[in-house]
Amino acid sequence: MILKYLQIESFKSFKKSTTFSFERETGLHFLTGRNEVEPDLEGNGAGKSSLLDALVWVLYGKTAQGVKAANVRNWNSMKPCRVKCDFAIDGIGHAIERIWGPNSLKLDGQIVEQDVIDALINLTPEEFNYSIFASQFGQMFFDLSPTEKLTVFTDIMALEAWTERSAKASRKAKALDIEIREGQSRLSMIEGTLDALEAEVVRNQSASKGYEEEKATQLKDLRATYADWCDDYDNLVNEFEELQKQKFIRPDTKPAEDWNSDHHKAIDRLDSVEKTLIRYDVKLMHLQEEWDKFDGVTDKCPHCNQSVSSEHIEKQKDGLEEDISDIHRDQKKSKSSKAKLIKKCESLETKLEDLSTLVLQHSDKAKDHKQKIAAVKDKLSIVNHTITAQDDLIDAAEKRTNPFTKIIGEAKARKMRVTKDRIARKKDIDHLMQELEGMQFWAKGFKEIRLFLVEEALTQLEVEINNNLLQLGLRDWSIKLDVERETATGGVAKGFHVTVQSPYNPKPVPWAVWSGGESQRLRLAGTMGLSDLILARKGIECNIEIYDEPTAHLSQSGIEDLLDSLYHRAIDRQKQIWLVDHRSLDFGSFASTTTIVKDKEGSHIV
Ligand SMILES: Nc1ncnc2c1ncn2[C@@H]1O[C@H](COP(=O)(O)OP(=O)(O)O)[C@@H](O)[C@H]1O
Ligand SMILES: [Mg+2]
Repeated sequence: MILKYLQIESFKSFKKSTTFSFERETGLHFLTGRNEVEPDLEGNGAGKSSLLDALVWVLYGKTAQGVKAANVRNWNSMKPCRVKCDFAIDGIGHAIERIWGPNSLKLDGQIVEQDVIDALINLTPEEFNYSIFASQFGQMFFDLSPTEKLTVFTDIMALEAWTERSAKASRKAKALDIEIREGQSRLSMIEGTLDALEAEVVRNQSASKGYEEEKATQLKDLRATYADWCDDYDNLVNEFEELQKQKFIRPDTKPAEDWNSDHHKAIDRLDSVEKTLIRYDVKLMHLQEEWDKFDGVTDKCPHCNQSVSSEHIEKQKDGLEEDISDIHRDQKKSKSSKAKLIKKCESLETKLEDLSTLVLQHSDKAKDHKQKIAAVKDKLSIVNHTITAQDDLIDAAEKRTNPFTKIIGEAKARKMRVTKDRIARKKDIDHLMQELEGMQFWAKGFKEIRLFLVEEALTQLEVEINNNLLQLGLRDWSIKLDVERETATGGVAKGFHVTVQSPYNPKPVPWAVWSGGESQRLRLAGTMGLSDLILARKGIECNIEIYDEPTAHLSQSGIEDLLDSLYHRAIDRQKQIWLVDHRSLDFGSFASTTTIVKDKEGSHIV
């Protein structure tokens, strides 16, 4: 950072617009003052510090003492407080203009926020204080307490960041550890679930097997019954066909008519023969009676009582006997006819009876056959229905779905999902464990880095300070730095400790107890060393170094020592070193002297 100009208006004691140029040769420059308003104060209160404060304010928005804008505007001016600084970084020119009342902050003419400026300057206000502008009221590095020194040192070296990083890694490691434990307990729960699911699958598989066996048995039984019914059906069909094949010829009843008519005729004839026979009997009876009348008679006609010859009687008797004999003969004939007719009748009756029996038998058979067919038909219908019903039963049994298949499928799907989950969780845990290992490594690693950086920075600072000691003419002197020091009681004193090794002491002594004429030069060496360290670490080169009132409490020789040292440093480092002092110092090698005069118009540069 090469500072070029500082334009000030209405800032602190500077009321009018003033320009201060840093475009000067390298060397030791002197800034002094004259207070014409209060001459008793000599060069005090002239506005020297106000000028330098303007530089800090334009860059950071506050002064070296932390005074904010509201208090930096010139009390006697109505104009806005305005500071503009021209500078170059890496050969590129920039200008920052900060105004208060109304407020504005511009970088190269553009309104910006402070963080843009911070990023460009790359130095915190503290770092600026310890490396470029040693302000009047700021303490020198060595004068700070060990704890303050440590704070400044760790802030500048950004060492706290490493502690924070380590703490962050540690916190993360703890969080990861908890996460891993939670993950592991979840994993064991998942594994428990998996075992339960496996048991569920096995249990249901066995139940499924049982179900299938029962189904097979049921189907076997149903099919066997079905086959039985089919056999029954076939048998019934055969029976039906057989029955249908059976033919019953109805006996021919036609002859019965003839037989009936013959029978009637025979009966009629028998009747007439019987009548004839009765007539024969009557005739015979009459003839016998007649004959009986003649029997024993010898001369008289029984009828007319006339005397008749025996011959005649005999003749009469013979005639009667002849008639009787004729009737006997006819009677015999008729009896024979009767017998024949009876026989015939009986024969016809037998025939008719036989035929009737046959007809009845046929009718019975036909009826029986019909009944049988009807019965078979009924049975066929029943069996048919039963077969259909059985078929339906088989169908239903075949269609019976195994409820365990679904349960097993679902359990397996769940198992698969849980297994996937388990793999993912395991992977997560492995990943977390790796991360934990990394975090544990870094929790330690960041601390080690910090320690390494501390040691490195300490060594560098030591080198820088000791270089400055040499340049400040303190040969055979050295400074030793430590961030932790063993105390007399054996404990560890935290803080930034400085020990001085001088030709006067056989052993190094702590800075705190050091008392010697070289204190100011040792202080300067510390301040310059720290400035060198900050700028070197940041890779910043600056053309300016400012020391505001460093001669306070110095003896004349001390002042001379200081001027000499700063001069050589300026020449050595090719810098503009500004020494600010309220007195007019007598030093022949100032590259320039600038006086700030304060009169009733405020401060201005002459
Ligand atoms: N806002 C302000 N307006 C006007 N004068 C101020 C303001 N702030 C401080 N001063 C005065 O400016 C003078 C210069 O102070 P300072 O710059 O510290 O002097 P020096 O460093 O030269 O001793 C002081 O007298 C102080 O009272
Ligand atoms: Mg001052």
